[in-house]
Amino acid sequence: MKKLVLCLIACAFLCSAKKAPLILYLTWMHDPMTTMTIRWQSIDSKDFDSAVIYRKKGEKVWHEKEGGRFKLQDAEFYLHTVELDGLEPDGEYEFRLAGRKGQYCFRTLPQRLTRPVKFVVGGDAYFYLYLMRAMNERIAACDPDFVVVGGDIAYTNGRSSIFNRKGWELRRWRTFFKEWKKSMVTSDGRLIPILPVLGNHDLRHCSLKPKTHELLFFDLFALKDSTYQVIDAGDYLSLFLLDSGHYFNVSGRQTEWLKETLAQRESTPYKIAAYHISAYPSVYPFNKKISRELRREWCSQFERYHLQIAFEHHNHAYKRTHPIKNGKIDPDGVIYMGDGSWGVNPRKPNDSWYLKEKACANAVCVVTLSGEKGKVDALGLLGKAIDTVDIYPAKTGIASNHLSFLEN
Ligand SMILES: [Fe+2]
Repeated sequence: MKKLVLCLIACAFLCSAKKAPLILYLTWMHDPMTTMTIRWQSIDSKDFDSAVIYRKKGEKVWHEKEGGRFKLQDAEFYLHTVELDGLEPDGEYEFRLAGRKGQYCFRTLPQRLTRPVKFVVGGDAYFYLYLMRAMNERIAACDPDFVVVGGDIAYTNGRSSIFNRKGWELRRWRTFFKEWKKSMVTSDGRLIPILPVLGNHDLRHCSLKPKTHELLFFDLFALKDSTYQVIDAGDYLSLFLLDSGHYFNVSGRQTEWLKETLAQRESTPYKIAAYHISAYPSVYPFNKKISRELRREWCSQFERYHLQIAFEHHNHAYKRTHPIKNGKIDPDGVIYMGDGSWGVNPRKPNDSWYLKEKACANAVCVVTLSGEKGKVDALGLLGKAIDTVDIYPAKTGIASNHLSFLEN
C-alpha cells in the first residue's frame, strides 16, 4: 500500500511538472570549489519558480535554493539564476529545477591537485553550426571540469549583411545555448560549466548601451560588473579571463587590475590567461593596434609574473609560439597558444618568427594540470591531438616553461 501511495505521488509530480528547459547551463560567479551558478531560460515564467533542488550524490536529503529571474527587454523569455553555495570541493551534486522535469549533475573543483584538473580553452565557436557541433562532441569526450570560450561565441555582431532576418541575433544565442545543453555533458553525465571571454563579434563598442541580445553575453558572464575576471582554483591555478578591448580598454583600469591581481598571485603554481585578440597573431598583421597594445600592456606583466600560457583567439588558425620574453625567443618566456578555430573555417597561418607550431586546422586546447606538471593538447576535429606541450608549475614564483622548451 505504501509503495502504491509513493508511486501515485511520483506520478502526480511527473504529470504536474513542466517540461525541462531547452536552455540550461552552469557557470561560476564566485569560488569554483564551493559554489555553482545554474542558469536557465524560459519563454514564460509566470508559472515557474526560480528555485533549484539539489543534494550531494549519495545523500538522501534534498535542499532547496531560491534564485531570481529577469526578462530581457523586447524579448519573450526570462533568464533564471540560482547560485548554490556552501558546496564541498570536488563534490558531485545532483539537481532539479523546481516544478520542472529533468535531473542533472555537476562537480565542483578540488581544493588541491589531488586529482588532475582538466579544462578546455577555445574561441570563435559558433560560426558554422556543424563545425561547432563536431568540436563540442570532441570536447565533451575529454570529460573536462569546465570550458573557457575565448570570444566570438555566437557571432551576433558585425554580420548583419549575412544574418539579416529580424531577431537573428537572439536566435543564434539561443541556438548556441541549446547546443551547449545537448552536447556539453561528460561521459558520466556531468554538465560542463562554461566560462566566457568577450570577442569582437559578441558586442559592439563599449561606449554603446548593450542591445537585448548582447545582454545574453552578460548573462553568460553571470552579470558581473566587468568583462574581465580571475578564477582562483584552490592553491594551484589562477585563470585570468581578460577583455582585449571590446567592452573595457586594454590599458588603464584593466591593466592596473591585472598588475595588482598578478602580484597577489605571484606564488600560484599555474597562472594561465585567456582573451580574444592575439598579441602574437598567426594570421593577422603583427603590428595591428590592439596587438601592439597587448604586448606593451599585458605581455610584459605575463613575463614578470611567469605565466605559463596565454591563450589567444580571433585568427581562425592553430598556433603555438616559442616561449617569448622581451620580444625574443627565451626559454624563460611565455607561450602563446590557440588562435581561435573552434567552429569557423580555418585560415592558413603565416611564417612569423615566433610561431613554433602552426596549422590551418580546427582546434581547441585541452589543459590537464597535476602537481608535478601540466600538459596542453591541441585537440583537432578528428578527436586527436595535433600538438602537445608540457608546462611546469611555478615554485616560489619561478615558472619553468624552460624544461618544456628544451624538450620540444
Ligand atoms: Fe574575433
